[in-house]
Amino acid sequence: MSKIKIIYQCQACGNTSPKWMGKCPDCGGWNSFVEEKVTSSKRQTSELDSMGTNAPLPLSEVEAISEKRVATGISEFDRVLGGGIVPGSVTLIGGDPGIGKSTLILQIFAGLSRRPGRLLYVSGEESPQQIKMRADRLDATSQNIIVLPETSLEGIIGAAKKIRPEAMVVDSIQTVYTEEMPSAPGSVGQVRECAAKLVLLAKRSGIPVFIIGHVTKDGAIAGPRVLEHIVDTVLYFEGDRGHAYRVLRTIKNRFGSTNEIGIFEMSDAGLREVENPSELFLSERPHNVSGTVVVASIEGTRPIMVELQALVSQTSFGMPRRTSIGVDFNRSSLLTAILEKRAGLHLGGMDIFINVVGGLKIMEPAIDLGIITAIASSAKEVPVDPGTFVFGEVGLSGEIRAVAQAELRLKEASKIGFKNAVIPAGNLAKIKGDMKINIIGVKDVRECLKAVLG
Ligand code: TYD
Ligand code: MG
Repeated sequence: MSKIKIIYQCQACGNTSPKWMGKCPDCGGWNSFVEEKVTSSKRQTSELDSMGTNAPLPLSEVEAISEKRVATGISEFDRVLGGGIVPGSVTLIGGDPGIGKSTLILQIFAGLSRRPGRLLYVSGEESPQQIKMRADRLDATSQNIIVLPETSLEGIIGAAKKIRPEAMVVDSIQTVYTEEMPSAPGSVGQVRECAAKLVLLAKRSGIPVFIIGHVTKDGAIAGPRVLEHIVDTVLYFEGDRGHAYRVLRTIKNRFGSTNEIGIFEMSDAGLREVENPSELFLSERPHNVSGTVVVASIEGTRPIMVELQALVSQTSFGMPRRTSIGVDFNRSSLLTAILEKRAGLHLGGMDIFINVVGGLKIMEPAIDLGIITAIASSAKEVPVDPGTFVFGEVGLSGEIRAVAQAELRLKEASKIGFKNAVIPAGNLAKIKGDMKINIIGVKDVRECLKAVLG
């Protein structure tokens, strides 16, 4: 007889405790412990055991699979994966509700359905009719896409074994439950157990599995740590619901580079790939307005020119407001302090708002110089020449530090027609060849502001 034991499990990190606690000692989350029942009997033999086991082998005798990647036909997605889908890989796609995860996966399946072989779409959230309606809109209806409304993991695995699809998706992991655990679907225990079994299924059968996961209010996939380390690839689909742009970002990738991004635009016929993001993000740039500057940024292997805006105005409250959208808040506070101390700007009584146009999020330090320039341009009310762009990292003593891949950034800018670049002096020395751009190397913040704002 199996005995049912009650434990308390942190819904944020999966830490367990025999007693309820207000604060998780592991991740520090408050009020995150939830009662879960576990059966203390030996694991029932799972459906999966019939799919063969792996014996220990010397590494030299392991058969190397020539990495046969399958291209989906959606090049933005293929690039994010590192060149296509790897057989037997498990990919987690996370994102806010309504951002377009189901749409993305259906379009990927539509691309894959042109090849022979079936694809299994398991949905615990939508009925086959709802999926069909969306597929019609996306022009993704195909006899190769099999839909299965199912939330029992055992049922899903059974169906996968029967259908033997070329790829499958579980939308979403939070709706799936395994009969081996009595706790509710969506709890950390269930999510972890189900994901682990799907990983096993993928590894044993070679079927690439996509798992869709919802993100909680604070931006983490339910049980973030428990899921992220068991899958091969973690992708986040993000974007501002008010904007049409969506960014697919790699957080982890066992088969390719992280930091790669794919850019899509949500339209009434689904997601469209954005092949030339720089032109798109700069298309509505205002001219002769202070507080805006273009930065050459690099996401993964791809250069993107984006517009950074800052608005500096006298505060009407006792405490000035500081807001940044799309750039790290702490980083922009730090850069504000550097401007005050090293360039002598008086920003103490000023509200400062910083925004990256188009709803992009940029984390690389090369945009420091852009933030500094935008703030100073707004504070002094001097517009930056629209043919000028900047990049560079700023240190605490106001020095400008060299950044990686300067030539790639310059090439992208020259392609779009920029005339002047203000870049770290350290980078200037190493630039080879003619860039067709007038390049100014700067050593510190004062020099930069003099070059850009005069
Ligand atoms: P969906 O894929 O259902 O989001 P998720 O699975 O991440 O919850 O996408 C939902 C949103 O996308 C919805 O608000 C409508 C929008 N959308 C379009 O604008 N155009 C389209 O062609 C489709 C299918 C959806
Ligand atoms: Mg969905």
